[in-house]
Amino acid sequence: MSADNCYLIDLPQFSDQRGSLAFAEVGQHVPFELRRIYYLYGVPPTAERGAHGHRELEQLIIAMAGSVDIEVDDGRQRRSFRLDDPARALYVCPLIWRDLRRFSPDAVVLVLASLPYDENDYFRDYPSFLEAVANPCR
Ligand code: TYD
Repeated sequence: MSADNCYLIDLPQFSDQRGSLAFAEVGQHVPFELRRIYYLYGVPPTAERGAHGHRELEQLIIAMAGSVDIEVDDGRQRRSFRLDDPARALYVCPLIWRDLRRFSPDAVVLVLASLPYDENDYFRDYPSFLEAVANPCR
């Protein structure tokens, strides 16, 4: 897997004088079967979240309110994204280390996930992540 396999998705959006509506459908905008959602909110501006990788998990990340910077790292290449639009999602493929930083005070960050929570799916330290991506068959 490569950081190049992480990409932004523009979601369909309907705006009129009543406000805006955006949506995402599994199979069309969500490129995996949805098994879980979670969300981050009330994150202090100096706090950093993420700082882990996943073996199998795929995710779609949306800043429902406010903004956040996300760095994705495949062990060779890093890419940075700023999410600040509720109609835009970042797809994160497996075997990617991710860091979430610079949350705005009003940020609500929704994560759509392809699997139930499983601590065994995590790489919690960067050296073991680097070793796994360097030796994917081990
Ligand atoms: P953590 O992995 O530290 O959050 P992040 O990486 O997004 O900064 O998760 C915080 C706690 O929440 C941790 O004890 C695990 C727990 N948790 C669940 O129980 N279920 C979940 O779906 C998630 C994402 C976390």
